[in-house]
Amino acid sequence: MSAHIGVTGLAVMGANLARNLARNGFTVALHNRSVEKTDTLLEKYGTEGDFVRTETLQELVDSLEKPRRVLIMVKAGKPVDSVIEQLEPLLEAGDIIIDAGNSHYEDTRRREAALAKKDLHFVGVGVSGGEEGALNGPSIMPGGSKESYMALGPLLEKISAKVDGEPCCAWVGTDGAGHFVKMVHNGIEYADMQVIGEAFDLLRSGAGIEPAEQSKIFTEWNKGDLSSFLIEISAEVLGHVDAKTGKPFVDVVVDAAGQKGTGRWTVISALELGSPVSGIAESVFARALSSQAAQRKLGQEMLAGNEVSVEIPETFVEDVRQALYASKLVSYAQGLDMLTSAAKEYGWDLKLDEIASLWRAGCIIRAELLKDITKAYAADEKPANLLFAPAFTKAIADALPAWRRVVATAVQLGIPVPVFSSSLAYYDGLRRKRVAAALIQGQRDLFGAHTYGRVDAEGTFHTLWGEDKSEIEAVDTH
Ligand code: 6PG
Repeated sequence: MSAHIGVTGLAVMGANLARNLARNGFTVALHNRSVEKTDTLLEKYGTEGDFVRTETLQELVDSLEKPRRVLIMVKAGKPVDSVIEQLEPLLEAGDIIIDAGNSHYEDTRRREAALAKKDLHFVGVGVSGGEEGALNGPSIMPGGSKESYMALGPLLEKISAKVDGEPCCAWVGTDGAGHFVKMVHNGIEYADMQVIGEAFDLLRSGAGIEPAEQSKIFTEWNKGDLSSFLIEISAEVLGHVDAKTGKPFVDVVVDAAGQKGTGRWTVISALELGSPVSGIAESVFARALSSQAAQRKLGQEMLAGNEVSVEIPETFVEDVRQALYASKLVSYAQGLDMLTSAAKEYGWDLKLDEIASLWRAGCIIRAELLKDITKAYAADEKPANLLFAPAFTKAIADALPAWRRVVATAVQLGIPVPVFSSSLAYYDGLRRKRVAAALIQGQRDLFGAHTYGRVDAEGTFHTLWGEDKSEIEAVDTH
Protein backbone atom coordinates (compact mmCIF):
# COMPACT_ATOMS: atom_id res chain seq x y z
CA MET A 1 0.00 0.00 0.00
CA SER A 2 1.42 3.40 -0.94
CA ALA A 3 1.51 6.04 1.73
CA HIS A 4 -0.32 9.32 1.20
CA ILE A 5 2.41 11.40 2.77
CA GLY A 6 5.86 10.99 4.26
CA VAL A 7 7.12 12.79 7.33
CA THR A 8 10.81 13.19 8.02
CA GLY A 9 11.96 14.66 11.33
CA LEU A 10 10.11 13.02 14.18
CA ALA A 11 10.84 15.29 17.11
CA VAL A 12 7.68 16.27 18.93
CA MET A 13 6.17 18.58 16.27
CA GLY A 14 6.89 16.20 13.38
CA ALA A 15 5.70 13.19 15.38
CA ASN A 16 2.47 14.93 16.35
CA LEU A 17 1.74 16.06 12.79
CA ALA A 18 2.38 12.49 11.59
CA ARG A 19 0.01 11.11 14.24
CA ASN A 20 -2.61 13.72 13.39
CA LEU A 21 -2.43 12.70 9.71
CA ALA A 22 -2.69 9.02 10.58
CA ARG A 23 -5.57 9.57 12.99
CA ASN A 24 -7.38 11.29 10.14
CA GLY A 25 -7.16 8.25 7.95
CA PHE A 26 -4.03 8.96 5.93
CA THR A 27 -1.28 6.42 5.55
CA VAL A 28 1.89 8.08 6.80
CA ALA A 29 5.40 6.97 5.99
CA LEU A 30 7.78 7.79 8.80
CA HIS A 31 11.44 8.69 8.63
CA ASN A 32 13.94 10.05 11.07
CA ARG A 33 17.70 10.44 10.90
CA SER A 34 18.03 8.03 13.81
CA VAL A 35 15.60 5.17 13.45
CA GLU A 36 15.08 4.91 17.24
CA LYS A 37 12.70 7.87 17.15
CA THR A 38 10.65 6.19 14.43
CA ASP A 39 10.47 3.00 16.46
CA THR A 40 9.51 4.81 19.64
CA LEU A 41 6.68 6.53 17.80
CA LEU A 42 5.50 3.24 16.36
CA GLU A 43 5.73 1.48 19.71
CA LYS A 44 3.72 4.13 21.50
CA TYR A 45 1.26 5.22 18.86
CA GLY A 46 1.49 2.68 16.04
CA THR A 47 -2.12 1.64 16.57
CA GLU A 48 -3.49 5.15 16.02
CA GLY A 49 -3.51 4.70 12.24
CA ASP A 50 -1.62 3.38 9.25
CA PHE A 51 2.10 4.03 9.39
CA VAL A 52 4.89 2.81 7.14
CA ARG A 53 8.26 2.44 8.85
CA THR A 54 11.23 3.50 6.75
CA GLU A 55 14.91 3.70 7.54
CA THR A 56 16.25 5.78 4.67
CA LEU A 57 14.98 8.69 2.60
CA GLN A 58 15.06 6.41 -0.43
CA GLU A 59 12.70 4.01 1.36
CA LEU A 60 10.52 6.93 2.39
CA VAL A 61 10.27 8.20 -1.18
CA ASP A 62 9.64 4.70 -2.55
CA SER A 63 6.75 4.19 -0.16
CA LEU A 64 4.75 7.19 -1.41
CA GLU A 65 1.94 7.55 -3.93
CA LYS A 66 2.48 10.11 -6.71
CA PRO A 67 2.75 13.01 -6.73
CA ARG A 68 4.82 12.34 -3.66
CA ARG A 69 4.31 14.52 -0.62
CA VAL A 70 7.24 14.69 1.77
CA LEU A 71 6.83 16.80 4.86
CA ILE A 72 10.01 18.00 6.51
CA MET A 73 9.92 18.93 10.17
CA VAL A 74 13.49 19.72 11.11
CA LYS A 75 15.18 22.73 12.69
CA ALA A 76 14.93 25.89 10.57
CA GLY A 77 18.04 26.92 8.65
CA LYS A 78 20.79 24.58 7.42
CA PRO A 79 19.06 21.32 8.44
CA VAL A 80 16.21 22.13 6.01
CA ASP A 81 18.66 22.73 3.14
CA SER A 82 20.45 19.53 3.98
CA VAL A 83 17.27 17.40 3.88
CA ILE A 84 16.19 19.06 0.61
CA GLU A 85 19.59 18.31 -0.88
CA GLN A 86 19.24 14.64 0.02
CA LEU A 87 15.63 14.38 -1.13
CA GLU A 88 15.88 16.22 -4.40
CA PRO A 89 17.68 13.52 -6.45
CA LEU A 90 15.20 10.92 -5.21
CA LEU A 91 12.09 12.80 -6.39
CA GLU A 92 10.37 13.24 -9.75
CA ALA A 93 8.76 16.18 -11.52
CA GLY A 94 5.52 17.19 -9.79
CA ASP A 95 6.49 15.87 -6.35
CA ILE A 96 6.02 18.15 -3.36
CA ILE A 97 8.40 18.94 -0.53
CA ILE A 98 6.66 20.56 2.41
CA ASP A 99 8.55 22.51 5.03
CA ALA A 100 6.30 22.79 8.08
CA GLY A 101 8.89 24.34 10.40
CA ASN A 102 9.33 27.99 11.33
CA SER A 103 11.59 28.78 8.37
CA HIS A 104 12.42 32.31 7.31
CA TYR A 105 10.28 33.30 4.35
CA GLU A 106 13.28 34.47 2.34
CA ASP A 107 14.79 30.99 2.66
CA THR A 108 11.46 29.57 1.52
CA ARG A 109 11.39 31.90 -1.50
CA ARG A 110 14.92 30.86 -2.41
CA ARG A 111 14.20 27.14 -1.99
CA GLU A 112 10.94 27.36 -3.89
CA ALA A 113 12.57 29.11 -6.84
CA ALA A 114 15.46 26.63 -6.95
CA LEU A 115 13.22 23.57 -6.79
CA ALA A 116 10.72 24.99 -9.29
CA LYS A 117 13.54 24.96 -11.86
CA LYS A 118 13.67 21.21 -11.32
CA ASP A 119 9.88 20.87 -11.62
CA LEU A 120 9.55 20.12 -7.94
CA HIS A 121 7.07 21.93 -5.74
CA PHE A 122 8.33 23.40 -2.51
CA VAL A 123 5.68 24.47 -0.05
CA GLY A 124 6.53 26.50 3.02
CA VAL A 125 3.75 25.90 5.51
CA GLY A 126 3.19 27.93 8.65
CA VAL A 127 1.90 25.69 11.42
CA SER A 128 0.76 27.17 14.69
CA GLY A 129 -0.61 25.70 17.86
CA GLY A 130 2.39 24.19 19.55
CA GLU A 131 2.65 20.49 20.27
CA GLU A 132 -0.96 20.12 21.26
CA GLY A 133 -2.16 21.88 18.12
CA ALA A 134 0.04 19.77 15.86
CA LEU A 135 -1.61 16.68 17.29
CA ASN A 136 -5.22 17.77 17.56
CA GLY A 137 -5.64 20.44 14.93
CA PRO A 138 -3.30 23.33 14.23
CA SER A 139 -3.86 26.48 12.26
CA ILE A 140 -2.12 25.93 8.92
CA MET A 141 -0.83 28.61 6.54
CA PRO A 142 0.47 27.06 3.32
CA GLY A 143 2.31 28.96 0.60
CA GLY A 144 3.90 27.57 -2.57
CA SER A 145 2.28 27.12 -5.93
CA LYS A 146 -1.48 26.96 -6.23
CA GLU A 147 -1.07 23.74 -8.18
CA SER A 148 0.70 22.05 -5.28
CA TYR A 149 -2.18 23.04 -3.02
CA MET A 150 -4.54 20.92 -5.14
CA ALA A 151 -2.59 17.83 -4.12
CA LEU A 152 -1.71 18.89 -0.61
CA GLY A 153 -4.58 21.07 0.57
CA PRO A 154 -7.12 18.31 1.25
CA LEU A 155 -4.74 16.55 3.65
CA LEU A 156 -3.81 19.73 5.49
CA GLU A 157 -7.41 20.91 5.71
CA LYS A 158 -8.44 17.57 7.18
CA ILE A 159 -5.91 17.75 10.02
CA SER A 160 -6.35 21.45 10.78
CA ALA A 161 -8.40 23.08 13.52
CA LYS A 162 -12.02 23.78 12.60
CA VAL A 163 -14.45 26.58 13.33
CA ASP A 164 -18.06 25.51 12.75
CA GLY A 165 -16.71 22.78 10.50
CA GLU A 166 -14.60 25.21 8.44
CA PRO A 167 -10.90 24.31 8.32
CA CYS A 168 -8.33 26.77 9.67
CA CYS A 169 -6.21 26.05 6.63
CA ALA A 170 -6.19 27.72 3.24
CA TRP A 171 -3.64 28.52 0.58
CA VAL A 172 -2.41 32.00 1.42
CA GLY A 173 -0.17 32.84 -1.53
CA THR A 174 2.79 31.84 -3.65
CA ASP A 175 6.35 30.96 -2.64
CA GLY A 176 7.15 32.22 0.90
CA ALA A 177 3.70 33.67 1.68
CA GLY A 178 2.80 30.89 4.12
CA HIS A 179 5.94 31.33 6.18
CA PHE A 180 5.58 35.10 6.00
CA VAL A 181 2.05 34.96 7.36
CA LYS A 182 3.18 32.59 10.11
CA MET A 183 6.05 34.95 10.97
CA VAL A 184 3.63 37.86 11.34
CA HIS A 185 1.36 35.61 13.42
CA ASN A 186 4.32 35.15 15.74
CA GLY A 187 5.01 38.90 15.81
CA ILE A 188 1.42 39.44 16.93
CA GLU A 189 1.89 36.57 19.40
CA TYR A 190 4.85 38.39 20.96
CA ALA A 191 2.86 41.63 21.28
CA ASP A 192 -0.17 39.84 22.65
CA MET A 193 1.96 38.09 25.28
CA GLN A 194 3.67 41.33 26.21
CA VAL A 195 0.42 43.29 26.70
CA ILE A 196 -0.87 40.54 28.95
CA GLY A 197 2.42 40.77 30.84
CA GLU A 198 2.02 44.54 31.16
CA ALA A 199 -1.49 44.09 32.54
CA PHE A 200 -0.14 41.60 35.07
CA ASP A 201 2.63 43.97 36.16
CA LEU A 202 0.21 46.90 36.50
CA LEU A 203 -2.26 44.90 38.54
CA ARG A 204 0.52 43.56 40.77
CA SER A 205 2.80 46.57 41.17
CA GLY A 206 0.10 49.22 40.78
CA ALA A 207 -2.84 47.72 42.60
CA GLY A 208 -1.13 45.03 44.71
CA ILE A 209 -3.23 42.20 43.31
CA GLU A 210 -1.54 38.87 43.94
CA PRO A 211 -1.16 36.26 41.17
CA ALA A 212 -3.81 33.91 42.59
CA GLU A 213 -6.36 36.72 42.60
CA GLN A 214 -5.23 37.81 39.14
CA SER A 215 -5.80 34.29 37.92
CA LYS A 216 -9.48 34.75 38.80
CA ILE A 217 -9.57 38.15 37.11
CA PHE A 218 -8.05 36.69 33.93
CA THR A 219 -10.54 33.86 34.03
CA GLU A 220 -13.33 36.46 34.15
CA TRP A 221 -11.71 38.44 31.33
CA ASN A 222 -11.62 35.28 29.28
CA LYS A 223 -15.41 35.30 29.21
CA GLY A 224 -15.61 38.70 27.49
CA ASP A 225 -14.14 40.34 24.41
CA LEU A 226 -10.61 39.43 25.51
CA SER A 227 -11.48 35.75 25.29
CA SER A 228 -8.43 34.01 23.84
CA PHE A 229 -6.02 31.15 24.29
CA LEU A 230 -3.30 33.42 25.68
CA ILE A 231 -5.59 34.92 28.35
CA GLU A 232 -6.76 31.43 29.26
CA ILE A 233 -3.24 30.06 29.72
CA SER A 234 -2.16 33.22 31.55
CA ALA A 235 -4.90 32.53 34.11
CA GLU A 236 -3.54 29.01 34.47
CA VAL A 237 0.07 30.14 34.88
CA LEU A 238 -0.90 32.86 37.39
CA GLY A 239 -2.91 30.39 39.44
CA HIS A 240 -0.08 27.88 39.60
CA VAL A 241 1.76 27.52 42.90
CA ASP A 242 5.35 26.31 43.04
CA ALA A 243 5.41 22.96 44.82
CA LYS A 244 8.89 23.48 46.21
CA THR A 245 8.40 26.85 47.88
CA GLY A 246 4.64 27.32 48.07
CA LYS A 247 5.13 30.65 46.30
CA PRO A 248 3.27 31.77 43.18
CA PHE A 249 4.96 30.08 40.24
CA VAL A 250 5.53 33.45 38.50
CA ASP A 251 7.62 34.55 41.49
CA VAL A 252 10.11 31.71 41.16
CA VAL A 253 10.61 32.00 37.40
CA VAL A 254 13.55 34.12 36.22
CA ASP A 255 12.07 37.19 34.55
CA ALA A 256 14.16 36.98 31.37
CA ALA A 257 12.06 36.11 28.30
CA GLY A 258 13.58 33.83 25.69
CA GLN A 259 13.02 34.03 21.97
CA LYS A 260 13.80 31.82 19.04
CA GLY A 261 13.72 34.56 16.45
CA THR A 262 10.40 34.77 14.66
CA GLY A 263 9.39 37.98 16.48
CA ARG A 264 12.74 39.51 15.61
CA TRP A 265 12.32 38.46 11.97
CA THR A 266 8.93 40.17 11.88
CA VAL A 267 10.46 43.42 13.03
CA ILE A 268 13.43 43.22 10.67
CA SER A 269 11.07 42.60 7.79
CA ALA A 270 8.75 45.40 8.93
CA LEU A 271 11.70 47.81 9.01
CA GLU A 272 12.55 46.83 5.46
CA LEU A 273 8.97 47.28 4.35
CA GLY A 274 8.64 50.58 6.23
CA SER A 275 5.72 49.10 8.11
CA PRO A 276 5.11 50.68 11.55
CA VAL A 277 4.68 47.62 13.76
CA SER A 278 5.70 49.56 16.86
CA GLY A 279 3.87 47.35 19.37
CA ILE A 280 5.38 44.20 17.93
CA ALA A 281 8.82 45.81 17.91
CA GLU A 282 8.47 46.95 21.52
CA SER A 283 7.50 43.44 22.54
CA VAL A 284 10.67 42.04 20.98
CA PHE A 285 12.77 44.75 22.64
CA ALA A 286 11.05 44.15 25.98
CA ARG A 287 12.17 40.51 25.81
CA ALA A 288 15.69 41.65 24.93
CA LEU A 289 15.81 44.14 27.81
CA SER A 290 14.43 41.57 30.25
CA SER A 291 17.36 39.34 29.33
CA GLN A 292 20.07 41.94 29.99
CA ALA A 293 20.57 40.66 33.51
CA ALA A 294 23.84 42.41 34.27
CA GLN A 295 22.62 45.84 33.16
CA ARG A 296 19.31 45.42 34.95
CA LYS A 297 21.21 44.68 38.16
CA LEU A 298 23.24 47.85 37.76
CA GLY A 299 20.13 49.78 36.77
CA GLN A 300 18.42 48.78 40.01
CA GLU A 301 21.36 50.13 41.98
CA MET A 302 22.15 53.22 39.96
CA LEU A 303 19.07 54.67 38.33
CA ALA A 304 16.63 56.94 40.12
CA GLY A 305 12.91 56.24 39.95
CA ASN A 306 11.29 59.38 41.34
CA GLU A 307 7.91 57.76 40.98
CA VAL A 308 4.85 59.90 41.56
CA SER A 309 2.42 58.42 44.01
CA VAL A 310 -0.99 58.17 42.48
CA GLU A 311 -4.33 57.12 43.77
CA ILE A 312 -5.33 53.85 42.15
CA PRO A 313 -8.95 54.32 41.11
CA GLU A 314 -11.59 51.74 41.92
CA THR A 315 -12.03 51.21 38.22
CA PHE A 316 -8.40 50.20 37.80
CA VAL A 317 -8.92 46.53 36.98
CA GLU A 318 -11.52 47.39 34.37
CA ASP A 319 -9.32 50.21 33.07
CA VAL A 320 -6.44 47.78 32.62
CA ARG A 321 -8.74 45.34 30.85
CA GLN A 322 -9.78 48.02 28.39
CA ALA A 323 -6.21 49.21 27.87
CA LEU A 324 -5.21 45.62 27.21
CA TYR A 325 -8.01 45.21 24.70
CA ALA A 326 -7.13 48.42 22.84
CA SER A 327 -3.40 47.63 22.75
CA LYS A 328 -4.10 44.12 21.56
CA LEU A 329 -6.28 45.49 18.79
CA VAL A 330 -3.48 47.80 17.69
CA SER A 331 -1.04 44.87 17.55
CA TYR A 332 -3.38 42.97 15.25
CA ALA A 333 -3.93 46.12 13.18
CA GLN A 334 -0.19 46.60 12.81
CA GLY A 335 0.45 42.96 11.90
CA LEU A 336 -2.33 42.94 9.32
CA ASP A 337 -1.15 46.24 7.87
CA MET A 338 2.30 44.72 7.51
CA LEU A 339 0.73 41.89 5.50
CA THR A 340 -0.77 44.50 3.17
CA SER A 341 2.66 46.08 2.63
CA ALA A 342 4.28 42.68 2.11
CA ALA A 343 1.64 41.66 -0.43
CA LYS A 344 2.58 44.67 -2.54
CA GLU A 345 6.29 44.11 -2.16
CA TYR A 346 6.28 40.39 -2.93
CA GLY A 347 3.36 40.22 -5.35
CA TRP A 348 1.18 38.10 -3.07
CA ASP A 349 -2.58 38.29 -3.19
CA LEU A 350 -3.00 38.05 0.57
CA LYS A 351 -6.62 38.00 1.62
CA LEU A 352 -6.81 39.43 5.11
CA ASP A 353 -10.26 38.00 5.84
CA GLU A 354 -9.02 34.51 5.00
CA ILE A 355 -5.84 34.93 6.99
CA ALA A 356 -7.75 36.22 10.03
CA SER A 357 -10.11 33.28 9.66
CA LEU A 358 -7.17 30.82 9.74
CA TRP A 359 -6.20 32.28 13.10
CA ARG A 360 -9.63 31.84 14.69
CA ALA A 361 -8.73 28.41 16.06
CA GLY A 362 -5.75 26.13 16.49
CA CYS A 363 -3.06 28.78 16.73
CA ILE A 364 -1.46 30.57 19.65
CA ILE A 365 -3.16 33.92 18.94
CA ARG A 366 -6.61 32.38 18.56
CA ALA A 367 -9.15 34.76 20.03
CA GLU A 368 -12.82 35.70 19.86
CA LEU A 369 -11.67 38.98 18.37
CA LEU A 370 -10.54 37.20 15.22
CA LYS A 371 -14.11 36.40 14.29
CA ASP A 372 -14.87 40.11 14.14
CA ILE A 373 -11.60 40.83 12.35
CA THR A 374 -12.51 38.23 9.74
CA LYS A 375 -15.89 39.91 9.30
CA ALA A 376 -14.32 43.36 9.03
CA TYR A 377 -12.12 42.27 6.12
CA ALA A 378 -14.85 40.23 4.46
CA ALA A 379 -16.99 43.37 4.11
CA ASP A 380 -17.40 44.79 0.60
CA GLU A 381 -15.50 47.84 1.62
CA LYS A 382 -12.19 46.65 3.06
CA PRO A 383 -10.82 48.91 5.80
CA ALA A 384 -7.46 50.51 4.98
CA ASN A 385 -6.53 49.75 8.58
CA LEU A 386 -8.28 47.39 10.98
CA LEU A 387 -8.92 50.34 13.31
CA PHE A 388 -11.05 51.95 10.58
CA ALA A 389 -13.54 49.07 10.49
CA PRO A 390 -16.63 50.60 12.10
CA ALA A 391 -16.89 47.99 14.89
CA PHE A 392 -13.28 48.57 15.92
CA THR A 393 -13.31 52.35 15.55
CA LYS A 394 -16.09 52.31 18.10
CA ALA A 395 -14.54 49.68 20.35
CA ILE A 396 -11.27 51.55 20.59
CA ALA A 397 -13.03 54.89 21.15
CA ASP A 398 -14.90 53.30 24.05
CA ALA A 399 -11.66 52.00 25.55
CA LEU A 400 -9.72 55.22 25.00
CA PRO A 401 -10.37 57.06 28.30
CA ALA A 402 -9.32 53.99 30.33
CA TRP A 403 -6.34 53.40 28.04
CA ARG A 404 -5.07 56.95 28.55
CA ARG A 405 -5.60 56.72 32.33
CA VAL A 406 -3.71 53.44 32.56
CA VAL A 407 -0.73 54.63 30.52
CA ALA A 408 -0.56 57.86 32.56
CA THR A 409 -0.71 55.89 35.82
CA ALA A 410 1.96 53.46 34.63
CA VAL A 411 4.29 56.31 33.72
CA GLN A 412 3.78 57.98 37.10
CA LEU A 413 4.40 54.76 38.96
CA GLY A 414 7.47 53.90 36.90
CA ILE A 415 5.97 50.67 35.57
CA PRO A 416 7.18 50.05 32.03
CA VAL A 417 4.32 49.45 29.62
CA PRO A 418 6.07 49.66 26.26
CA VAL A 419 3.30 48.07 24.20
CA PHE A 420 0.39 49.78 25.99
CA SER A 421 2.07 53.14 25.49
CA SER A 422 3.51 52.66 22.01
CA SER A 423 0.16 51.36 20.78
CA LEU A 424 -1.48 54.47 22.13
CA ALA A 425 1.18 56.59 20.41
CA TYR A 426 0.47 54.72 17.15
CA TYR A 427 -3.24 55.39 17.58
CA ASP A 428 -2.65 59.07 18.24
CA GLY A 429 -0.14 59.21 15.40
CA LEU A 430 -2.81 57.89 13.05
CA ARG A 431 -5.46 60.34 14.11
CA ARG A 432 -3.50 63.60 14.63
CA LYS A 433 -3.87 66.23 11.97
CA ARG A 434 -0.26 67.38 12.22
CA VAL A 435 2.65 65.34 13.54
CA ALA A 436 6.25 66.22 14.37
CA ALA A 437 7.48 65.03 10.97
CA ALA A 438 7.27 68.60 9.64
CA LEU A 439 10.08 69.66 11.94
CA ILE A 440 12.07 66.57 10.99
CA GLN A 441 11.71 67.51 7.32
CA GLY A 442 12.99 71.00 8.21
CA GLN A 443 15.97 69.53 10.03
CA ARG A 444 16.77 67.22 7.13
CA ASP A 445 16.57 70.04 4.69
CA LEU A 446 18.82 72.23 6.82
CA PHE A 447 21.62 69.75 7.40
CA GLY A 448 21.43 67.77 4.22
CA ALA A 449 19.38 69.68 1.62
CA HIS A 450 17.02 66.70 1.61
CA THR A 451 14.09 68.91 0.48
CA TYR A 452 10.49 69.00 1.66
CA GLY A 453 6.97 69.36 0.34
CA ARG A 454 4.68 72.30 1.14
CA VAL A 455 1.13 72.06 2.39
CA ASP A 456 0.07 74.79 -0.02
CA ALA A 457 1.87 73.86 -3.24
CA GLU A 458 2.80 70.91 -5.43
CA GLY A 459 6.46 70.12 -5.88
CA THR A 460 9.63 69.78 -3.87
CA PHE A 461 11.41 72.63 -2.16
CA HIS A 462 14.66 73.54 -0.46
CA THR A 463 15.45 76.52 1.73
CA LEU A 464 18.85 78.12 1.28
CA TRP A 465 19.57 77.87 5.00
CA GLY A 466 23.18 79.00 4.79
CA GLU A 467 22.35 81.98 2.59
CA ASP A 468 19.39 84.29 2.71
CA LYS A 469 16.90 81.54 3.71
CA SER A 470 14.96 82.02 0.51
CA GLU A 471 13.18 79.02 -0.91
CA ILE A 472 13.86 77.38 -4.24
CA GLU A 473 12.13 74.58 -6.09
CA ALA A 474 14.31 71.54 -5.93
CA VAL A 475 14.72 68.06 -7.26
CA ASP A 476 13.28 65.57 -4.77
CA THR A 477 16.12 63.68 -3.08
CA HIS A 478 13.98 62.45 -0.10
C1 6PG B 1 3.08 28.68 17.37
C2 6PG B 1 4.26 29.24 18.11
C3 6PG B 1 5.46 28.40 17.86
C4 6PG B 1 6.57 28.60 18.86
C5 6PG B 1 7.24 29.94 18.76
C6 6PG B 1 7.73 30.41 20.09
O1 6PG B 1 2.50 29.45 16.64
O2 6PG B 1 2.77 27.53 17.57
O3 6PG B 1 4.51 30.54 17.67
O4 6PG B 1 5.83 28.55 16.54
O5 6PG B 1 6.10 28.39 20.13
O6 6PG B 1 8.30 29.77 17.89
O7 6PG B 1 8.58 31.42 19.84
P1 6PG B 1 9.64 31.99 20.84
O8 6PG B 1 10.47 30.84 21.36
O9 6PG B 1 10.41 32.91 19.99
O10 6PG B 1 8.85 32.64 21.93
